[in-house]
Amino acid sequence: MNEVYEFEWVEVADFDDMSSYAAELFERQLLRKPDSVLGLATGASPIGFYEKLVERHAQGTFSFAQTWTFNLDEYIGVEPSHPTSFHNYMKEHLFEKVNLPVTRRHLPDGMADDLNEACLRYEMMIRTSGGIDMQLLGIGVNGHIGFNEPGTSFHSRTHIVDLAESTRTVNAKYFPSKDAVPRQAITMGIQTILEAKQIVLLALGEQKVEAVEQLKRGVISEDFPASCLHRHPHVTVFYGK
Ligand code: PGA
Repeated sequence: MNEVYEFEWVEVADFDDMSSYAAELFERQLLRKPDSVLGLATGASPIGFYEKLVERHAQGTFSFAQTWTFNLDEYIGVEPSHPTSFHNYMKEHLFEKVNLPVTRRHLPDGMADDLNEACLRYEMMIRTSGGIDMQLLGIGVNGHIGFNEPGTSFHSRTHIVDLAESTRTVNAKYFPSKDAVPRQAITMGIQTILEAKQIVLLALGEQKVEAVEQLKRGVISEDFPASCLHRHPHVTVFYGK
C-alpha cells in the first residue's frame, strides 16, 4: 500500500474551537459517504463535539439514516440504562438528537453472559459493516486510548480490560465514590482502532499536556498506548491547553 504518512497536529484556542473543527471533519465525512461507519468515544472531551455535530445535523445538510456507529468501550456490569453507562452517555449526547436508527448504533455489551463472545461478536460486526471510516478518540492522562491501558498489546482486538487505578481515579467524578467505579470494561483493541481509515484525537487541557508531549516525542511503545498512532497513516490531533 502506498499511503502517504500524515500525522496532523492542530493547535486549538479552546474547547469550542476543538469541538467545531472535529464536528466539521465528521460532517464532511458523512457528506462524502452517508453510509460511513463512525467510531465514537465518550468522556468529557467529545461533549462539545457532539453538541456541534447535533447543531450541524439540525441544519439538514447531512443525515445519519445510513450511518453505522461503533463506540470504543463500555463498562462491564453497568446496565445500559444506568446514568454512568456509555450507552446512556451516547443516548443523551447524540442518539436521541439525530436520525440514527437504533439498529445502526453499537456499543460493546458489558452485560453479556459471555463477555469473551461479546468481544468477538463486536469485532465481527465492525468487520461486517465494512470497517470504521473515521474514529474519534480521547486520550487518558496515562496515554490510554479507548480503555487500552499501558501495556496493552498493539495487536489487541476488542477485549476485556482491568481498568488502571489512575483511570478509575479520573472517572470517579462520574460515580458516587471511587469504590463505585467499575474495575473492568470491554474496549476495542489497539489493532481494531488502527484499522480505522482515519483517526481524530481530542486532547485538550492542562491535564493532557504531558500525554500530548509524550505523543509528540514519537517514541512508539506499548507502555504508552497512544504512541501506536504513529503507525497509522491518517491521524489528526486537536490539542491545546
Ligand atoms: P476525557 O477522557 O475525554 O474524559 O478526558 C479521555 C480518555 O480517558 O480517554
